[in-house]
Amino acid sequence: MCGIFGYIGDKQATNLLLDGLRRLEYRGYDSAGIAILNSNISSSKCIGRVANLESIVTSELNGTCGIAHTRWATHGGVTDANAHPHLSEDGTVAIIHNGIIENSRALRNWLTSEGVLLRSDTDSEVLAHLIHRARKDGLSPLDSVRRALRHTRGTWGLCAIFEDEEVIVCARNGSPLVVGVGDGESFVASDPHALTPHTQRVIFLEDGDLAVLTAGGIKTSRLDGGVSDAIVTTIDESWGEADLGDFPHFMLKEIYEQPEALRQCISGRILLGSGNGKLGGLDLATKSLRDIPHIRLIGCGTALHACQVGRLAIEELARVPTQSHVASEFRYNNPVIDPNSLYFAVSQSGETADTLSAVKEIQLKGGQVMGIINVVGSSIARQCARGVYIHSGPEQAVASTKAFSNMIAALTIFSVQIGRARSLSKSDGVSVLKALNDVPDQIERYLSDVGPIMDAVEAVKDAKHVLFLGRGASAPVAREGALKLMEVAYIPCLAYPAGEMKHGPIALLEEGSPVVVICPNDKFRSKTLSNIQECKARGAKIILIHDEGDDEAAAEADVAIAVPSSHSIVSPLLTVVPLQLIAYHAAVVLEKDVDKPRNLAKSVTVE
Ligand code: F6R
Repeated sequence: MCGIFGYIGDKQATNLLLDGLRRLEYRGYDSAGIAILNSNISSSKCIGRVANLESIVTSELNGTCGIAHTRWATHGGVTDANAHPHLSEDGTVAIIHNGIIENSRALRNWLTSEGVLLRSDTDSEVLAHLIHRARKDGLSPLDSVRRALRHTRGTWGLCAIFEDEEVIVCARNGSPLVVGVGDGESFVASDPHALTPHTQRVIFLEDGDLAVLTAGGIKTSRLDGGVSDAIVTTIDESWGEADLGDFPHFMLKEIYEQPEALRQCISGRILLGSGNGKLGGLDLATKSLRDIPHIRLIGCGTALHACQVGRLAIEELARVPTQSHVASEFRYNNPVIDPNSLYFAVSQSGETADTLSAVKEIQLKGGQVMGIINVVGSSIARQCARGVYIHSGPEQAVASTKAFSNMIAALTIFSVQIGRARSLSKSDGVSVLKALNDVPDQIERYLSDVGPIMDAVEAVKDAKHVLFLGRGASAPVAREGALKLMEVAYIPCLAYPAGEMKHGPIALLEEGSPVVVICPNDKFRSKTLSNIQECKARGAKIILIHDEGDDEAAAEADVAIAVPSSHSIVSPLLTVVPLQLIAYHAAVVLEKDVDKPRNLAKSVTVE
């Protein structure tokens, strides 16, 4: 979602800022802009990619202090005028803003009644005018931002620059912002990933924090004027360069990185000798694991699908009642929080606003929440304090792939850990963990010969809609396959538990309708094969994901894609891979922007 990058120091800022924006591009955006302070503030902004912005940036844009932004539209359409930065009427203040100003309508009306000319349809623009008015009243840059924000309701990751003073003032409330400490220079970004080429020393601002950046250093404070607890931390996680290597797209690269990413996730966490899992970050004694009455897993999109797979594993192995929840619903349904239950917030980015809000709601009501997170030091990771990093490494493509697998792997290890503290036998624990241990090699083997993926792509690429079916743990895999194909290839997809199909979606089937069926060799296999017959009887074309060697199932399909056979608990890790590949190749064949699908964002920081 919207990205922020700012620089103040002794170097020319323009290229640094454009480079910062390029590192944030993976988050998804629709326009970009930049403002640089010289003797006055110059700015450029336009819809489209950072490359478009680069082509219109003129030599006037030179100076050693500036801010830059990628916008993902919320209030106001995708237009040049709505792109950030927004400037005060006289051009002496420029701001960039992530988040939503909830009382912007009232503020716009008030500013208009005061004779201020608003140049955009955005909620953000009001901030430039409010800050400017405070500045005109003689307040310092910091106090001007403070006063403006006291009139504002909503969320913000905000940066402002001023014509008459070389500083960047930053503020955070509900939208991530991290400042970077350099030698004779300071940085700010919405994502630490953008800072790592410049500095490893960062301050994660907390909600209600403000920071004043100068070339000489950073001063933090609170919106109410108090002292901030923000401290400098060193990011020790190496997020590597966002480089494609020999791959044409990040999505494909990340699909192929799954074996290695899984090894990173499970390494040191599988105790084959005792058939136990060890997720040290949870810091839960056996006694507490025994006493947990109920588990709830919370996430959005792909993370939610991982929760749904994890829920089944926990119930199966530990016999603890477990539910998965859509974060955006959970928070607003006034959830009943049991302080003895265990809650998990599952998120790749660790910044998803809906999930973060759910965490805060649980904590407010006395519940304990653990994070299952990829991005180290992210807002949800910090809010949860305890939890597990899934170690997928940077995920750049908007469509999540390797993080899904690692979320499932972490939840599987947790299922064994809690299962062993209760009634799971050592031999059953060993068999699940051995199967999990084998998965990276099995995926590698599958990826060396992916089967008739292109035949599947041919069957779905021009379809009016595609139905995905599966039972048990394959039902969430079906949802994940449908989400992937829909988000990158823009083909309408529907996913259903296979047994539920006859209660409605079967009405969609006609001659040639593609139906993707996930049918590993588990206890549901024969029931799913019957559902395939029901589809075929209506003329549907079956694309089947099945276990190697299951020739009987393969014979029922128009396109049969075999994956290595595994334990039913970990089969989603194998069956999802061909679905990711179908989505990827369909998008490529249809000439879609695979890594940055329209309207989507990698890090969804608004509710
Ligand atoms: C789908 C996708 C999204 C995310 C969702 C949650 O490919 O990427 O559905 O899974 O926005 O994001 P995180 O995991 O960052 O909380």
